[in-house]
Amino acid sequence: MSYTIKETKAATSRAREYDINSIPMGIAFTDHMFICDYDNGQWNNPRIEPMGLIPTHPAAMALHYGQAIFEGLKATLGKDDTPLLFRPEENAKRLNFSADRMGMPEFPEDLFVEGLKKLVAIEHNWIPKNEGSALYLRPFMYADEAFIGMRAATKYKFIIMASPAGPFFSRPIKLYAETKYVRAVNGGTGEAKAAGNYAAAIRPTEFAKAKGYDQVLWLDAQNFEYIQEVGTMNIFFKIAGKFVTPNLNGSVLAGITRMSVIDLLRDKGFEVEERPITITEVKEASTNGMLEESFGVGTAVGIAMVEEIGNMDFTIKLPKENPVSKDVQDTLNKIKTQQLEDKFSWIVPV
Ligand code: COI
Repeated sequence: MSYTIKETKAATSRAREYDINSIPMGIAFTDHMFICDYDNGQWNNPRIEPMGLIPTHPAAMALHYGQAIFEGLKATLGKDDTPLLFRPEENAKRLNFSADRMGMPEFPEDLFVEGLKKLVAIEHNWIPKNEGSALYLRPFMYADEAFIGMRAATKYKFIIMASPAGPFFSRPIKLYAETKYVRAVNGGTGEAKAAGNYAAAIRPTEFAKAKGYDQVLWLDAQNFEYIQEVGTMNIFFKIAGKFVTPNLNGSVLAGITRMSVIDLLRDKGFEVEERPITITEVKEASTNGMLEESFGVGTAVGIAMVEEIGNMDFTIKLPKENPVSKDVQDTLNKIKTQQLEDKFSWIVPV
């Protein structure tokens, strides 16, 4: 289906106020945003507007009952400076998976991609050129109905913002294996990209940082044994030549970088197992010299090498060299900038 997306342009661009090739993630926002409203059972009035504040009623249901979900993907520059999106249709599908879990309406997947393309085309001058930098795109949906009471809202907003972003971590990271707090339980919202999942993770992450770690490694809620994921990413281990990543059991976010890395590793000839993996198995592999590499993967993070996993009871030190992880990171960055052939058809030119 083809949509009419109304455009109201900002009077001037603020891009020159920033060094977009060297900017930490999340602090600068581009000149425009894409907005669409849901009311009377349908999405109405898709439009691009100058970036600005959105009037919100204090009773907006997202603020009270947490119906809020989001996505993340990146735009990069390819050959001839063409803006490129990485697997946007996968984000559209995952947004609707999250919407379903949180009792929110589906957003049309073709309009999702159309909105992204239109916004990125307008914000072309905000896309960083540096390797590892990109224009981070943040589609999100929230309940915008003013109402006090426990039910699904009848009004929502879907918005896409864009923010130039440099690399998330420029060094190997330390993970805190959490044994007090949990991120997800069976039947919970762990597989949805729901704002509340991140809210519940903030305090434990602050505690982990105060102890010298970068992010939390989440373990299962019953026994604190099975590895789920890390603060803002999925996790991989290379054990005795094979890669292992926790299977999608309902408590793990189905990362788009995760699924791309699985394909890349297999394409490079590695065996990849998606299966339950315990922290005990990782400790034993380390003791036996079989733990060769570990890295986190996510849209914002890209690929982050892990140098240590621990808590008050144990410390696992990872080898300093991460040849396969580095190679996968390099391949992914080069596919995203058309320096390597996109043989998986992941790239969508704008
Ligand atoms: C992403 O990787 O896009 C995320 O959503 C993580 C975010 C919390 C920084």
